[in-house]
Amino acid sequence: MSRSFRRLLVAGAAGFIGSNFVRLLRRTHPEIEVTVLDKLTYAGNRDNLAGVDGYRFVEGDVCDASLVDRLAAECDAIVNFAAETHVDRSLMDPYAFIETDVRGTAVLCEAARKHQHEVLLLVSTDEVYGEVREGRSRETDPLRPRSPYSASKAGGEHIAWAYAESFGLPLLVTRGSNTYGPHQYPEKLIPVLITNAIDDMRLPLYNDGSAVRDFLFVEDHCLAIERVLLEAPAGGVYNVGTAAETTGLQVAEAVLDIMGKPRGLIEFVADRPGHDYRYALDISRITALGWEPRVTFAEGLETTVRWYRDHQDWWRPLKSGEYWDYYRRNYRPLVR
Ligand code: NAD
Ligand code: TYD
Repeated sequence: MSRSFRRLLVAGAAGFIGSNFVRLLRRTHPEIEVTVLDKLTYAGNRDNLAGVDGYRFVEGDVCDASLVDRLAAECDAIVNFAAETHVDRSLMDPYAFIETDVRGTAVLCEAARKHQHEVLLLVSTDEVYGEVREGRSRETDPLRPRSPYSASKAGGEHIAWAYAESFGLPLLVTRGSNTYGPHQYPEKLIPVLITNAIDDMRLPLYNDGSAVRDFLFVEDHCLAIERVLLEAPAGGVYNVGTAAETTGLQVAEAVLDIMGKPRGLIEFVADRPGHDYRYALDISRITALGWEPRVTFAEGLETTVRWYRDHQDWWRPLKSGEYWDYYRRNYRPLVR
């Protein structure tokens, strides 16, 4: 199948994955008219879309029902990236996450229903399954989120599934794993490690650095979202990951090795409360749809290190003021 829509509203596309997605879609499907709606929070940055042309930008909030209604009236499909996204910040300010990730999702559902859109695709996360001590999460597994971030993402999903069941909303959901690559705000693990290493600062790892993630290169994540958007039958939910497992310590060592810096820069710090020590996905459903990851972790990490080395004008202004307030609040000494 190939879904046809002409005018796409992309919420949250001034952020990391959304901006990479719009760049990809303008290249692969220039016939689709794109409107970007973004609130430009600390994580949103119009520079992320520099060099992309042929899209309309609207600064605004997905919780603003009348604005979303007006934009949805002019479109026939929505992809939602807009969210508060950082687990550590969700421990400091849960309400901001509930507002955007739950209520904002509800506002988008209502607008898509009212204007009889072809599809609403929610970009969700593997974190909704909660910590997975063994085995791999399948799309049919129950959601057992454990942080305010993942609970808010799961809450948004539940609202959207309720719209699908109750009103026939044509819904698609992707549950992507930990994504990394160019334009990621330097609060997430990989850009924290790289930008700190560039400045010979300590590389903070929670507890013993043993937590496991499935790191997915951003271009691969965007290709999966594009495939689901264009090819998947409505009502589908798709895990998106590589099925590889990497610890934080392995990531930090790999970053330092690529950069030729000493491993002594690694510093173990106090653990994140409620830390999920492992996520792992069964990706057979998305591979059956014809997608598979193209970039290995070693290749993607090299590319990402090079990008942060070459784009210090992008991230240095972000690591100032409020960032260091957050950093000081977040990282505490490890007491064994
Ligand atoms: P990000 O934090 O880099 O970007 C989020 C964007 O949403 C920013 O541009 C921000 O300004 C915008 N935004 C926030 N609140 C808004 C609001 N109320 N109204 C309008 N715009 C708002 O996030 P990201 O890493 O690009 O993640 C994008 C999506 O993908 C999120 O929904 C996230 O849950 C999901 N996801 C992320 C990852 C990951 O590892 N980064 C993995 C799986 C899924
Ligand atoms: P993060 O990038 O915040 O993503 P997630 O939403 O999956 O938690 O963190 C990835 C992993 O790295 C997670 O196990 C927490 C750990 N971590 C550190 O050890 N140090 C850090 O500075 C950060 C940001 C994360």
